[in-house]
Amino acid sequence: MNAAVMTSGALCLCGQVPIAQASARASVGGSEKGRVPALLRAVDGASLVSKSSSCRSSYLGVQVKETQRSARMRKSTASGGSARAEIYIEEAGSGTAVIYREDEEKSSESSGPTTMKGWTYSEYGAAKDVLKFEDSIPVPEVKPDEVLVEVKAAALNPVDGKRRIGKFKATDSELPHVPGYDVAGVVVKVGSDVTKFKEGDEIYANVSEAALNQPRQYGSLAQYTAVQEKLLAIKPKNLSFAEAASLPLAIETAQEAFDRANLKEGQTVLITGGAGGVGSLAIQLAKNVYGASHVATTASTGKLNFMKSLGADKVIDYKNEKFEELSDKYDVVLDTVGECSKCVKVVKEGGAVIALTGALEPPGVRFVVTSNGDNLAKLTPYLESGKVKPVIDSKGPFKFSQVVEAFEYLETGRATGKIVIGPVE
Ligand SMILES: NC(=O)c1ccc[n+]([C@@H]2O[C@H](COP(=O)([O-])OP(=O)(O)OC[C@H]3O[C@@H](n4cnc5c(N)ncnc54)[C@H](OP(=O)(O)O)[C@@H]3O)[C@@H](O)[C@H]2O)c1
Repeated sequence: MNAAVMTSGALCLCGQVPIAQASARASVGGSEKGRVPALLRAVDGASLVSKSSSCRSSYLGVQVKETQRSARMRKSTASGGSARAEIYIEEAGSGTAVIYREDEEKSSESSGPTTMKGWTYSEYGAAKDVLKFEDSIPVPEVKPDEVLVEVKAAALNPVDGKRRIGKFKATDSELPHVPGYDVAGVVVKVGSDVTKFKEGDEIYANVSEAALNQPRQYGSLAQYTAVQEKLLAIKPKNLSFAEAASLPLAIETAQEAFDRANLKEGQTVLITGGAGGVGSLAIQLAKNVYGASHVATTASTGKLNFMKSLGADKVIDYKNEKFEELSDKYDVVLDTVGECSKCVKVVKEGGAVIALTGALEPPGVRFVVTSNGDNLAKLTPYLESGKVKPVIDSKGPFKFSQVVEAFEYLETGRATGKIVIGPVE
């Protein structure tokens, strides 16, 4: 019970050890980098797991790098001039532990981080004009049905750009916004009604249940984001945070489109814009999840082989051929580029045309994706078996500092697959 790791009297990891005693074992200041086994021995030796300890400052976070294990702060609360910290270690492992401390003046008053770094905008406009990087955004409050996620990676979608220029002003949430729908990260706090997820779970999600109707004011392009439990799924084990972040909104859109179209095994499908974020996943879902017998798609000349590699049976080079003039007809057409009037010409009698964007022409229909963790979880076996693979544009992942550049690239409309931001730190 006498082990401790402590730095210059401001950062400590101690059991039932008087501060004075811990101080005697203190080493460096600011942050402490120590070997994990030593840290774990210290923790175990001090019976720190799930036990609270008195510290002179609270913990902002504990990360164990280069290892499967994770150690993180669970709780710290002010108690007079000192703070109480609860720390738990999930697994043992080797690697480097980095322990961060909160500013000492704030530490006696806080329970966990209260501010974070992230991207915001306070008015609608072009990315370079309105997006600002800030380092003291309030960490979102966690409602009873929500968890707080420490964001590891995020991804952009066209809706982020359209929303930022004010296209959905009438139904948007209040400004300022932290943009971002897609997230992958680690649960660091759970609301009182949350039952399926716990601290330390690695999750991914589209953080806004309805993409256009009051989407999250505080989205995923920040160090923390709050997410409703029902929108979350456990991250597939084989995927990195960047890969997982690339999926939620786009894959949920493709899945919901095929569910609404009632796509059945053995049917034929055309997907316009096969190289886009939605299209590249829709090809794989149609073929490997829904069991379509034939999947055709449209793409520009340089992307034809890539479309084949995703499983497309036929690739129409839209720069040189007009799919609406070919004789092929399809049971289901998913239009991701705004060509509904052409798509309705190639659908079979009684078939379905789902158009995600642009003007509609009957029988084409539109829906707006609904985020749903259970639906995401249904795809886990396909993701873990490699039948469906994330597609990340090769210009990324973009650094957290490059969000403006990432948005400008998204808005060229030429990305292949998804634009990912990460690591978020
Ligand atoms: N309704 C909903 O719920 C919902 C959900 C998700 C997305 N959306 C919308 O659906 C659209 C697609 O989203 P996304 O994430 O897939 O976009 P994206 O990733 O930005 O799409 C870019 C891709 O589109 C391809 N493309 C552009 N014009 C094309 C054309 N005429 N024919 C074939 N391919 C073309 C580009 O390939 P080339 O460089 O080869 O042209 C590029 O690879 C967006 O408008 C988005 O807002 C709607």
